[in-house]
Amino acid sequence: MRYLTAGESHGKALVGIIDGYPSGVPVDIDFINKELARRQKGTGRGGRMAIESDEVEIISGIRKSYSIGSPISFLIHNKDWVNWKDIMNISQDGSCENKEKILLNPRPGHADLTGFLKYRFNNIRDVIERSSARETAARVCVGGFAKIALNLFGIKIYSYVTRIGPVSFEDKIKLEKETVKKIEESAVRCPDEKISNKMEKEILKSKAHGDSLGGKFKVIAVGAPPGLGSYSQWDMRLYSRIAAAFMSIPAIKAVDIGNGFSSASVSGRNFHDEIYYDEKNGFYRKTNRAGGIEGGMTNGGNIVVGAVMKPIPTTRKGLGTVNIQTKKAGVSLKERADICAVPAASVVGEAVLSIEILNAMQEKFGKDNIDEILENYTSYKKYIKNIEKL
Ligand SMILES: Cc1cc2nc3c(=O)[nH]c(=O)nc-3n(C[C@H](O)[C@H](O)[C@H](O)COP(=O)(O)O)c2cc1C
Repeated sequence: MRYLTAGESHGKALVGIIDGYPSGVPVDIDFINKELARRQKGTGRGGRMAIESDEVEIISGIRKSYSIGSPISFLIHNKDWVNWKDIMNISQDGSCENKEKILLNPRPGHADLTGFLKYRFNNIRDVIERSSARETAARVCVGGFAKIALNLFGIKIYSYVTRIGPVSFEDKIKLEKETVKKIEESAVRCPDEKISNKMEKEILKSKAHGDSLGGKFKVIAVGAPPGLGSYSQWDMRLYSRIAAAFMSIPAIKAVDIGNGFSSASVSGRNFHDEIYYDEKNGFYRKTNRAGGIEGGMTNGGNIVVGAVMKPIPTTRKGLGTVNIQTKKAGVSLKERADICAVPAASVVGEAVLSIEILNAMQEKFGKDNIDEILENYTSYKKYIKNIEKL
């Protein structure tokens, strides 16, 4: 399965094309819309999220609510487009020129300066319309399709926030129903109510100072079978695909799998997950420091991905920059922006992890039809169980 997205932040719509999605999957559009709504939430989101209420419109690839194996294409309309029609005009129309503010003060930490130079623009607007993380709505939609398929194999994806600026949540959690409910109810997607409140306060403080914040989050896949990915080539090692997918989310600056970062300071005998066996469980581990992947392949444990998000580059007070035309020192441009989008980014993380896992499942068990993939999956599970009983 591969996908492409298109669309400007204030253009008519975001567009997505998914190629290679198996036929026969019952596609619940309401579920995808709920995923889109989850991405829009969270303390610290900017005014734009109050205007948009993202909904997907399917153009192709689905008939009578089932996927038919042809490319799925979809639109997510930008409600704000009506307010930007003149500025985003596709035809050559000079009537808006006077109204439009030409943006010349690039934001440090954004694509503004390099995009302006690279594509020979004369207005930073031409960069920021596509470099905006509005694009991640389309990715959450693709991820929604992937989640629906994974659910048929009993694979579920969760996420929660472990840090907002200076406030961190370090506890180990069990993904029980009650915990998941707490995460979904928290305005910052953190399962601990007290720490959630502290995180929210930190965001509001940052807002009052005209500043922004980053943080950390974890994404966890439960139920993936052992043997997805391979050690045989660098690009088959599942680590590389997952890390690339997370690093493609705007503002993500570091990714680790399992206890990745802390593994540097622990001895081998204290790090690696020892292997046990009993009749009831087959092979199993008591710990999961590897984060569910060894040798580039899933090992049957939960896949645990941690990601670090830098602070949002657009701030009300701005940052020092240089005007592209006059070359004089100035303050970076102001664009309506989030103060903190770590909770939203964790939902985008769920989407990209779902896509990578579905891809690996299709590689191992088949690509064309979901029942065929399920049959191959069931027979593989049976094979593994038999081996464990030998
Ligand atoms: C969900 C989400 C929302 C974001 N919202 C904003 C925003 O409102 N303003 C902003 O300047 N950056 C925002 N960002 C981050 C920028 O898109 C990102 O920093 C920028 O495109 C530069 O890319 P880089 O940080 O990966 O180098 C957001 C990122 C995500 C994942």
